[in-house]
Amino acid sequence: MVNGKGRILHPLLNNSVDSMSQLDDVSNNLSPADRQIIDEEHERLEQFLHDLRDTCENFSAHGNCYHCSRAQVATCQGRLTSFFYDFLDLVAEHFENEERIMSNTLLIADDDQYFRQHQAEHARLIREVRELMYESAVFSNQGNPSEAIRRLFLKISEMFGEHAHAFDSAFLGEKTNHF
Ligand SMILES: [Fe+2]
Ligand SMILES: [Fe+2]
Repeated sequence: MVNGKGRILHPLLNNSVDSMSQLDDVSNNLSPADRQIIDEEHERLEQFLHDLRDTCENFSAHGNCYHCSRAQVATCQGRLTSFFYDFLDLVAEHFENEERIMSNTLLIADDDQYFRQHQAEHARLIREVRELMYESAVFSNQGNPSEAIRRLFLKISEMFGEHAHAFDSAFLGEKTNHF
């Protein structure tokens, strides 16, 4: 969001903050190599989530697992378990890299309101993803990994889409709902 003076107005902050004026040209300061790292990590996270969704044959039909074979249910349960570990690791690694790149790119990042809020949002997302995984594991353990996969996919897509729109796009200099 940009005001009449070309200054970024952050959607989650209620006014134009002086320290945020650094963001005006920050995407120009982002090196192509750093930009590539962030873009590739965003794509990998999105692909991971889509692969999880595609594991479930009932995803679109909003069905459950009670018509699937035991072998298929076991496959989905196994995929979910590895997703829990791998996705959280990937997210943590991405947030760490994004924050490192941000702090190098924003000259006085330690004192920057946008940087600190972005960092706090990353920490909150990690907590929410972990919580969501605990909740989803219950469905999976009850023999209905389909419900677990659906909840994870929809909720994580929504949370990360909002984060990309509200935070990453200000830093990357683009309007995007992709993460
Ligand atoms: Fe971010
Ligand atoms: Fe990101």
